[in-house]
Amino acid sequence: MNPHDLPAGAQVAASFPALTQTVHGQRLVYLDGAASKLMPQCVIDAIAHYQSFDHANVHRGVHALAERATARFEDAREAVRDFIHASSTREVVFTRGATEALNLAAIGLGVGLRPGDEVIVSAIEHHANLVPWQMACARSGARLRFIAVRDDGTLDMDGFERLLGPRSRVLAVTQASNVLGTVPDVAALVARARCAGLATVVDGAQAVAHAPVDVQALDCDFYAFSAHKMYGPTGIGVLYGRESALDRIPPLFGGGDMIEAVTLESASYAGLPARLEAGTPNISGAVGLHAAIGFLGSFDRPRRLEAEHHLLAAMEAGLNRLAGVRVLAAGTPKQGALSFVVDGVHAHDVGTVLDRRGIAVRVGHHCAMPVMQRFGVPATVRASLSVHNTQGDVQALVDGVREACERLR
Ligand SMILES: Cc1ncc(COP(=O)(O)O)c(C=O)c1O
Repeated sequence: MNPHDLPAGAQVAASFPALTQTVHGQRLVYLDGAASKLMPQCVIDAIAHYQSFDHANVHRGVHALAERATARFEDAREAVRDFIHASSTREVVFTRGATEALNLAAIGLGVGLRPGDEVIVSAIEHHANLVPWQMACARSGARLRFIAVRDDGTLDMDGFERLLGPRSRVLAVTQASNVLGTVPDVAALVARARCAGLATVVDGAQAVAHAPVDVQALDCDFYAFSAHKMYGPTGIGVLYGRESALDRIPPLFGGGDMIEAVTLESASYAGLPARLEAGTPNISGAVGLHAAIGFLGSFDRPRRLEAEHHLLAAMEAGLNRLAGVRVLAAGTPKQGALSFVVDGVHAHDVGTVLDRRGIAVRVGHHCAMPVMQRFGVPATVRASLSVHNTQGDVQALVDGVREACERLR
């Protein structure tokens, strides 16, 4: 057995029913985990069990099913707390996903922004951690400033230092680029920003499945992620917030579950996190997220991360050997994903050739148009790893890209 397949890869693939199918008559090679991870059977089973036997509304009923649904929902919150090492479940707000979580943070922090204040983001952000800050700045008169990205995909840390000034208020930065796969030194960025008195927001969407997360060690004010990028279902995510930071967010929605008392004229609000979770939540999603955390916990994580690191390095080396194929940020350490372009061939055409071979990758701008502009490409092909990927999958990709080069150039 190839050592790079351990402990992830072949054995783990059996946990994913989607991988038993063929696509266009070929074995499915799923290299699109950065968009959405496939769901393992244990997550599907947990959701199905909840839907079959425990489904009811939470927090309101006294009957057995309502109590069970509430317990499952709040157990999921505790599992998330433990997973990211938050100090209290009051700091774990369920959202529809990372996008909603980042918008909540931007709205909350936006309330305190004044004309001339400055919000700092990096130049490699997903639109979900860029557009909400553009909106917050437009509403408040604050100014958006950017940490530049170098040709090698790393952030210009000296430039960041120069951006810090008396009007700097917020740093919002990704823990891993969803396009390049590069990994900013978020710990250093957050530490420096906190020292300078800024509120800090970390977009963990791409990192959470690929590295252990400890929000207390990171010491950020907010941390956002989605369940579907960590083997859970779509439609649920988390905004972690330090309690004092969450207190700054006004309730975005009014309604059931977020109140303490209501008269015809006014309402007083519940405490955290209910204050930010109006209405019936995505209970089955929370159950699925809980199961996904259990799935991730069932591996020896350091060994799994090492195996993933080797696979990604093999992928980059294999692609680099193909004439006319260029990996973006080549040679820079990456986590979980890489992007490449084929000279003279549109990424969509490469993706189509790969799809005919049963290989699923992502093509396009990956909701990060400024990154495309910065690297002077209209689109890239992105290949990204999940725990089930093997050396065989990497070889299939390289062979597929070689065929695309031969056929399309
Ligand atoms: C880095 C990053 N941030 C945020 C998001 C948004 O996640 P979602 O669409 O699940 O809200 C994504 C999704 O691809 C992402 O890659």
